[in-house]
Amino acid sequence: MLDNFDRVKNLPVYVFNVTHELKSKYIDAGIDIIDFSMGNPDQDTPKEIIQELIKGVEEPFAHRYASSQGIDKLRQSMKNWLHNRFDLNLDPKSEIIVTLGSKEGISHLSMAMINAGEKVFVPEPCYPIHKYAFILAGAEIISLNGMSGDLLIDDLKVKLNHHRPKVLILNFPTNPTTDCVNLYFFAEIISLAKKYEFWIIHDFAYADIIFSDKQHPSILQVPGAKDVAVETYSMSKSFNMPGWRIGFVYGNKKLVHALKMIKSYYDYGTYGPIQKACSFALDNYQKFVPQIVKKYKERRDYLSDGLNNIGWEVIKPDATMFIWAKIPKKYSHLNSLKFSELLLNEANISITPGMSFGKLGDEYVRFSLIQENNRVDIALSKLEKILSR
Ligand SMILES: Cc1ncc(COP(=O)(O)O)c(C=O)c1O
Repeated sequence: MLDNFDRVKNLPVYVFNVTHELKSKYIDAGIDIIDFSMGNPDQDTPKEIIQELIKGVEEPFAHRYASSQGIDKLRQSMKNWLHNRFDLNLDPKSEIIVTLGSKEGISHLSMAMINAGEKVFVPEPCYPIHKYAFILAGAEIISLNGMSGDLLIDDLKVKLNHHRPKVLILNFPTNPTTDCVNLYFFAEIISLAKKYEFWIIHDFAYADIIFSDKQHPSILQVPGAKDVAVETYSMSKSFNMPGWRIGFVYGNKKLVHALKMIKSYYDYGTYGPIQKACSFALDNYQKFVPQIVKKYKERRDYLSDGLNNIGWEVIKPDATMFIWAKIPKKYSHLNSLKFSELLLNEANISITPGMSFGKLGDEYVRFSLIQENNRVDIALSKLEKILSR
């Protein structure tokens, strides 16, 4: 048979395609759906960044292939950003690479690192690519309890007695649980990685979407972390630029080099003017990011207070653009998919079922903070009816 595509044959439908399919019959019928499902920033990219892009597009030679490692100017901006934000000193030539978003970076890095059958430790629940990038690369996945940092580290220690992983992937602040950790946590993980000899990839997509005064640490702030770890950062959330497709992988030289090698075959990097506009964005971080974070904080307060007021007890997250909500007691007999379907069918509200992030998430659903307050009000009054009937 010519259609024996083994690599994709057993993949489940991608999580956001599931929610998209559920809601599309309503959208096709012209029914208004209040959509909290995807972590897809709804606000515009700041105007000045767009202006920089337009300027770049009009420059001579803008149309040419860019470089798959990323242009020097952007890697230099990233170096400065990492220094200013986290006091890190990375070499932009050998320790930083630009990617077409963190999703691409993690995917190609896993392909560069993994030999068939090697084990990878993946916390559950997780952002799907943390697991499937490694499955697609031929790894055996060993799930860790990722419901919180504390549970994760305990489970990691237990599983290290039975398995020798090649890689551990982490993501703090976490999508979907919103969990945050401190530098001691990262230090303990780094020392385990050195003792048991495994690599760490830390996805830092929500590095900036933090609601307390204290910033969330980078794993690379642990002394010696660079020996075993890389981190990924994304322009998608911090700068409202998800469609632009820019992210970074930085840290350990060997891992950066492996990714650079594989990318040199697969791509020529993001369009040059986009890279230049991203350099401008990073150089002017203070001008853009705090306002974006402020908006998420207001939305976090509005939605979590609103849910608590109607009797759906949720924890106010310290970070990310999500609320990770336990299915209310009254509906706890339903799994997360059935409960999400109920909200869609009976209230025209779309949320993401927790099981999309792994079995351990099945008692939860995830709201993204992508709706304005007037839409949240409509959703809350519909939810109140469902909870009180
Ligand atoms: C944890 C996490 N990592 C990565 C991404 C995707 O980032 P990018 O747009 O840079 O590929 C997301 C998007 O929701 C995410 O939540």
